[in-house]
Amino acid sequence: MCAIYFFLLAILLPCCFEILSLSCCTIMKETLRYLAGIAGPSGYGSKSTAEQVAENCSCLVDPQHLTAIITGATSGIGAETARVLAKRGVRVVIPARDLKKAAELKEGIQRENPNAEIILSEIDLSSLASVKRFCTEFLALGLPLNILINNAGIFSQNLEFSEDKIEMTFATNYLGHYLLTEMLLERMIETAEQTGIQGRIINLSSVIHSWVKRECFSFTQMLNPNNYNGTRAYAQSKLANILHAKEIARQLKAKHAKVTINAVHPGIVKTGIIRAHKGFITDSIFFIASKLLKSTSQGASTSCYVALSPQAQGISGKYFADCNETNCSALANDESEAQRLWRQTRALIQRRLQHQIPC
Ligand SMILES: NC(=O)c1ccc[n+]([C@@H]2O[C@H](COP(=O)([O-])OP(=O)(O)OC[C@H]3O[C@@H](n4cnc5c(N)ncnc54)[C@H](OP(=O)(O)O)[C@@H]3O)[C@@H](O)[C@H]2O)c1
Repeated sequence: MCAIYFFLLAILLPCCFEILSLSCCTIMKETLRYLAGIAGPSGYGSKSTAEQVAENCSCLVDPQHLTAIITGATSGIGAETARVLAKRGVRVVIPARDLKKAAELKEGIQRENPNAEIILSEIDLSSLASVKRFCTEFLALGLPLNILINNAGIFSQNLEFSEDKIEMTFATNYLGHYLLTEMLLERMIETAEQTGIQGRIINLSSVIHSWVKRECFSFTQMLNPNNYNGTRAYAQSKLANILHAKEIARQLKAKHAKVTINAVHPGIVKTGIIRAHKGFITDSIFFIASKLLKSTSQGASTSCYVALSPQAQGISGKYFADCNETNCSALANDESEAQRLWRQTRALIQRRLQHQIPC
């Protein structure tokens, strides 16, 4: 039930939790902007679709020379992002835990665009060993890598643990993507140096990140919570996605690397992530609120904007919603928190991988 309220609130205050501290006037203005789909400084708004964004960007950059990895592309926002990028000529690599589902998606994309280049590979983001295996296999292909979209995500109502004995939401949404980024970063830096095309990493976060209170953001509790609450675990993982983007952006700037990393809130879209909440009440709420939800194509627009837009060139460590840069919570902006989380995660992964996978 708690999750239903979270989605409903997120719908009723569309752009929104991060601006609760602002004046009523600003909240009303932002809500009206969202509802009317009024374009922001980028020229896009809440009603812009991934197709529109990618089409406009493709007039300015040539996506034919790009290779992208998109996680969680077997359904929802990721599937639409993959379809739209592939249509523009981007070579798309889809790591998936369900290869049959991935093959169906590939078939669908290629039916629409016979020339689309799609590469499928197996990954279970909740398993560090599986992420490591995928990265080793991808790197062995010798392909360039321009875009990495860390899109996969789960919302779990019940407490579950990954094979590494880490709470499942945190393991899937954050830890798996942390290791994926870590192992692919050097290839992205090399590609950017060799091609002169800036590499871009996009972490899918959520506006719900701003629900997390500082005193509740404890690394050990996220790994193995005492009192599990699905909404809180999801919000914490989404906060971790932003902090990750902030810290990697800082490190990339210090190295003068030609790679950027940003976090995005895609908007509220009725996708598989809420399939666990099927039922009369949830369905009724979504039916009533359906006019306020984004379509999947609108939900994929911000990822496509940050991945392709020339206006996003050079922007790193920022948070986007509705294809425009926006504010995240004070905690998500805390540089020392981002560094602390990065160090703790790195130490944990080193310990686990040494233990499980002999080098
Ligand atoms: N929908 C929204 O309203 C909303 C709002 C804010 C943020 N977001 C974020 O947007 C992103 C995409 O969400 P969505 O709404 O498109 O969800 P979705 O339709 O449920 O898609 C989630 C994707 O993640 C994949 N995935 C889940 N666990 C995995 C694992 N262990 N290993 C590999 N892949 C795994 C799923 O694969 P399977 O097909 O095998 O299940 C699926 O392809 C998520 O990060 C989510 O947090 C969504």
